[in-house]
Amino acid sequence: MASDTLTAASARPHAENVWAAARRDLDGLPGGGLNIAHEAVDRHAADPLQRGRTALRILDRTGTAHELTYGELARRSTRFASVLDRLGVWRGDRVATLLGPDPDLYVAALGILKAGAVLAPLFNAFGPEPVRTRIELGGVSVLVTTPELYRRTVEPIREELPGLRHVLLVGPLLDGLLDAADPDRPITRTAPDDAALLHFTSGTTGAPKAALHGHGAVVAHLATARSLLGLRPDDVYWCTADPGWVTGVSYGIVAPLVVGATVVADTRPFDVRRWYRVLDEQRVTLWYTAPTALRMLMARGAEEAHRHDLSALRTIASVGEPLNGAVVEWALQTLGLPVHDTWWQTETGAIMLATAADEEVRPGAIGRPVPGIEAAVLAQGPDGRARVENGHVTVIHGSAQGELALRPGWPSLFHGYFGDPDRTVACFADGWYLTGDVVRRDRDGWYRFVARADDVIKTAGHLVGPFEVESCLMRHPAVAEAGVIGVPDPAAGALVKAFVVLRAGVEPTEELQAELLGYGRRELGAVAPRAIALVPDLPHTRSGKVMRRLLRARELGLPEGDLSTLENPS
Ligand code: WT7
Repeated sequence: MASDTLTAASARPHAENVWAAARRDLDGLPGGGLNIAHEAVDRHAADPLQRGRTALRILDRTGTAHELTYGELARRSTRFASVLDRLGVWRGDRVATLLGPDPDLYVAALGILKAGAVLAPLFNAFGPEPVRTRIELGGVSVLVTTPELYRRTVEPIREELPGLRHVLLVGPLLDGLLDAADPDRPITRTAPDDAALLHFTSGTTGAPKAALHGHGAVVAHLATARSLLGLRPDDVYWCTADPGWVTGVSYGIVAPLVVGATVVADTRPFDVRRWYRVLDEQRVTLWYTAPTALRMLMARGAEEAHRHDLSALRTIASVGEPLNGAVVEWALQTLGLPVHDTWWQTETGAIMLATAADEEVRPGAIGRPVPGIEAAVLAQGPDGRARVENGHVTVIHGSAQGELALRPGWPSLFHGYFGDPDRTVACFADGWYLTGDVVRRDRDGWYRFVARADDVIKTAGHLVGPFEVESCLMRHPAVAEAGVIGVPDPAAGALVKAFVVLRAGVEPTEELQAELLGYGRRELGAVAPRAIALVPDLPHTRSGKVMRRLLRARELGLPEGDLSTLENPS
């Protein structure tokens, strides 16, 4: 094949047909319209053969399984929507969840969608500061959380959030409201373009961003989960991503329920032995997980794996961070299956590059663009991002390295960053959506991940914006300036490290260093720096911005010359 035909070849033909096929398999609301919650639960609940099947099997803190059938989940989420009505929640209002994967989370998430409101999931390991920023950013009017998380994370910031009208605490109070709610509330008639999901994500500069997605995204969730993960109604499916992040919602709740599978979730924190037990005892058939988790299983050795019966497992897939070839080889030897990599982002809303479940895995490669997606590799400029000249980008054909770009038009592309049209516009150039990832494409059209083209940090699969961490540290009275980067870590890929310049006259003591670490943990929670170095100064650009790339080069002992090609420490 001539190399200049490769881009065209990888944009498999009949893109529209791929989505049209998925659209045909969706039900639609009676009388017209599309609502994710209808597709995920109510259509199954209306089917006498499906109604009694297990939708959710959730392991509580003691490991006891709690099951909800499709029928039960449909009824309870309808009542939740009716509770939102009573609180004055209206179509398009943002309702946030700050919950782990407990039954209430699924009921609330689906109830929010049924009410025509926008589901805005928050990670329950965030500290007060990231939660405050995101509630403000999303203009969230109602928050659903547990009494415990309320005390720990919300109470310290409650007074600073006048726009947050109600906080619903799960437990007896909510149960009482649900019992009194209207069990027959019809689903709000939403259209594919109506807002459904607001996912918070991070960029290099500025505050976090809130990517808005419509109900029509479910077309892409269904199409990709079926064709790439191979998800089927008879699957026992375990997506280990937390439902406070986009993967945990799109592929942890929406896709498997739309397909009609049984979702397994574990509310307990990661533990190697327990994870093997979940796979074994729950007879998991399809497992969608992340490289950090696989690396931690690998570090424990084969013995633990061999104590368990993993014979039910048909497919292992991974997402969120670079999947090392060594992990794929290990999985094949130890678990008896390779790991199928998938690549996507909060903004793309669904998997864009993948090795499908029925394709042979090439260790170290992500895979190819999914059917219906046109991908391109764009030439980079000196800042590492795609070079745009007079509004035009340069598409490189054949084997190439550059910024990954995608042709807009697929059903789950975000509608924009909520309240931030400028940053939305900056994601597009010359008819392409720019991903911010540098990739390499082999001669035969397979893609490999190279690095992020910007400064965001991926730690244990979570995206951390250095600016958010720097801003928080700079609110501490002893801190004059901070620069935050990711440093390599064998398990988590990267760890967040801060370089801190103290205010004049403040002594750089070990006590202060420890205090700053504690301050970060309290304020930021999961995105706090793991290491802090007190330094006399930071490198700056001429315009005065901290040069994080230079900090990283110095930390890694790399040459400081060509920073545009500096690879991520992962
Ligand atoms: C960033 C997106 C993962 C979807 C939900 C989280 C990195 C994602 C891979 C992969 C290497 C990957 C990219 C991407 N990433 N998948 N298979 N190999 N890197 O989305 O939090 O918006 O993160 O995660 O850098 O841009 P997100």
